Parts: sequence; structure tokens; C-alpha cells
Amino acid sequence: MSKTEQNLLAAFAGESQANRKYLAFAERAEAEGYKQVAKLFRAAAEAETIHALNHLREMKGVKSTKENLLEAINGESYEFQKMYPQMIEDAKAEDAKGALRSFTFANEVEKIHAELYKRALENIDSLPEKDYYVCKICGYTVEGDAPEECPICKAKKQAFKKID
Ligand code: FE2
Ligand code: FE2
Ligand code: FE2
Repeated sequence: MSKTEQNLLAAFAGESQANRKYLAFAERAEAEGYKQVAKLFRAAAEAETIHALNHLREMKGVKSTKENLLEAINGESYEFQKMYPQMIEDAKAEDAKGALRSFTFANEVEKIHAELYKRALENIDSLPEKDYYVCKICGYTVEGDAPEECPICKAKKQAFKKID
């Protein structure tokens, strides 16, 4: 990988993180009554997304949908097979309860993402039209309808957000 390719990768990661971080900062600013600061954070967050997508385009990071599904399956699988299991062990060893919960939620949901992507790839030309719901607490992602209770974090049905 050339130096520029490495830089694009690092810059994509940084800009992507800045986007999510600024959106979280905007929510806090709203909660603290700083409306204008919240707006500034949202504006910068929007710009960081543009930077991230520009870098991703230059990295040729978006391919055909079939290739993208395959890449997504590989990424999710790495996370629940290697990355999160190790992080969960480390969190247990260090008695980091909050992180343990956060890693466990993600670990469980990435398994489901990998499955949903696999099914989508296998049936790409005959996928039935269905809604998706996402649990706002743990990210549990479900096809069809929201369950009465989230199987991962036990949140109630109202905690689910419908995805358009
Ligand atoms: Fe930026
Ligand atoms: Fe995921
Ligand atoms: Fe949940």
C-alpha cells in the first residue's frame, strides 16, 4: 500500500469518527440549551461526512453491491469472530462493566448483520420487500416487525426505530 493509500485509510477513519462524535456533541449541546453550538456541530458533522466520502471514493472503497455485501459479511464476521470476543475477554479481565456491555451488544448484533447480509447476497435478485427495525439501545437489527422485547438488551418495542 502506498503512503497515500495509507493516508486515505487513516483520514477516512478519522473523518468518520469526527462525524459521529460531532453528532453526539450536538445532542449534548441541545440538551444543555446551546442551540447555536448544536447547529455548528451538526454543520461540521455534515462536512466531515463529505470529507470521509471523498476519501473513500479516492480509495475506490465502494464497489458493486455484490462485492460490497461480501466485504460487509467479511467485516462483520471479523468483528464477531475475532475482534469483539477478545475485547470482551479483556473487559472481563479488567472488570470494565460498561465496556463489556457495549462490546457484548455489538458482538451479538454483528452476528445478525452478517446473517442478514448473507441472505441478501444469496437472494439478491429476489429479495422480498420488508421493513427493518433497529433497537436504539443495542442496535439489534430485525427484518419485518419490531419484537415486543429486544432479544439482546430486553428493551421494549417502543425502543425500536423503523428504517426507511
Ligand atoms: Fe474534515
Ligand atoms: Fe454491524
Ligand atoms: Fe436492544
